[in-house]
Amino acid sequence: MNQSSRQLLITGGAGFIGSNFVHYWHRHYPEGYTLVLDALTYAGNRANLAALKEQPGFQFVQGAICDADLLTQLFETGQIDTVVHFAAESHVDRSILGPSAFVQTNLVGTFTLLEAFRKHWEDQGKPEAFRFLHVSTDEVFGSLGPNDPAFSETTPYAPNSPYSASKAGSDHLVRAYFHTYGLPTLITNCSNNYGPYQFPEKLIPLMCVNILLGKPLPVYGDGQNIRDWLYVEDHCRAIATVLEQASPGETYNIGGDNQVKNIDIVEQLCDLMDSSVEGLPFQPARDLITFVTDRPGHDRRYAMNIEKIQRDFGWSPQYDFAAGLKQTVAWYLSRQDWWRPLLSPKYQTFYQALYGL
Ligand code: NAD
Ligand code: TYD
Repeated sequence: MNQSSRQLLITGGAGFIGSNFVHYWHRHYPEGYTLVLDALTYAGNRANLAALKEQPGFQFVQGAICDADLLTQLFETGQIDTVVHFAAESHVDRSILGPSAFVQTNLVGTFTLLEAFRKHWEDQGKPEAFRFLHVSTDEVFGSLGPNDPAFSETTPYAPNSPYSASKAGSDHLVRAYFHTYGLPTLITNCSNNYGPYQFPEKLIPLMCVNILLGKPLPVYGDGQNIRDWLYVEDHCRAIATVLEQASPGETYNIGGDNQVKNIDIVEQLCDLMDSSVEGLPFQPARDLITFVTDRPGHDRRYAMNIEKIQRDFGWSPQYDFAAGLKQTVAWYLSRQDWWRPLLSPKYQTFYQALYGL
C-alpha cells in the first residue's frame, strides 16, 4: 500500500506531537485521509489543527480511546487501515501528582484501542497492509549513569515514574498483540521532543513562556540531568518512515543524538531571548533561574542509540539543536495568541501545586 492511500486514525492528534504529525502528513500527502480522535484534555487543543479545517481528507472527532463503541464505529465508517497512536497522558510531573489518569489512558486506553482494531482487522480478513503504530518514549528504559552506553532496542525496560511505567505497560501490550494475534504492530521509542504547539508545562516551552512573563525559571535539583533532544518535525518524519518501511513486530529507537544538560538549555534560552526580544519584563533572563527541590525519582540521563533506524532506512535527524531552538523561540514569541489562553485558572492551580511558586 502506498502512503497516500492509507486511511489513518490518529489518536491524540490535537496534542503536541500528534498535531505536528497531522500537519506533516497533509503536507507530504495532500491527497491523504486522516481521522483525528482526541479527547481534548488540558493538553489537546483544536487550535493546533485550525489550519486543516477546510482540508479535504481531514476529519476530527472528539472522544476517548477508552470508548470501545466509538472506536468500532470509527474503524468501520472511516474504513481505517492504519492507526498512529499518540494519545496519552504525557507529563511526568502530573503522573507524580495523580497517576490514575495515566493508568486509565495509557494502559486501559491502549488496550481498548488494540482490541477494537484487532476485531476490525479480523473482520476485514486480516489484511497484511494494516498497521498499528504505537508512539512511545525512551523513558521506558529508565535512567543512565554518566558512562553507560545509550539505550538500544534491546535494552531491558526499567521505568521509574508512573508515566514511564504506564507507557512501558502499553508497549508490552502492543508487543503481545503482534506475537499472540499477528496484529501488524510497530513501536517507536523516541527521546524528548521540542518545537511548536508544545504545552507550556514541559521544560522548553515553560521556560520560553516564563521568560516572556518575567516569572522564575524552576530548575530541578542541580540542573545537571541530561536529555536527548529532537526537533518534533524530525520525529514526525521518522514515524512516517517506520510506517512506510518497517516490518510488523519491529521496534525502532528515535533520537536526536543530542545530549544536553537541563541547565545548559535554560541558559541558552535566556540568552536567546535577551538578544532577540525587546522590552522583556526582566533582564538578564538568567537572573530568573531558580533551583527548586528535585523531582521525586528524577531520571538522571537519557540517550538513544539510533543506529537501527539509520542503518535500515537512512533516517537521521536533520535539525541542528541551536537552529531548532531558535525557531522554537521565534514560534512562542509570535504565537502568544496560542499560549496565553492556556494559562487558565486550572493551569495556575497545577502550577502552584507543583512548584509552589
Ligand atoms: P500531549 O500531552 O501534548 O498530547 C496528548 C494528546 O492526547 C492530547 O491532545 C490529549 O487531549 C490526548 N488524549 C489524552 N487522553 C486521551 C484519551 N483518553 N483519548 C483520546 N485522546 C486523549 O503529548 P505529546 O507530547 O504530543 O506526546 C504524544 C505521544 O508521544 C505520547 O504517547 C507520548 O508518550 C509520546 N512521546 C512524547 C515525547 C515528548 O517529548 N513529548 C517523547 C517521546 C514520546
Ligand atoms: P520535561 O520537559 O518534563 O520532560 P521529561 O521529564 O519527560 O524528560 O523535563 C525535561 C527535563 O527538565 C527533566 O530532567 C526535568 C527538567 N525540568 C526542570 O528542571 N524544571 C521544570 O520546570 C520542568 C518542567 C522540567
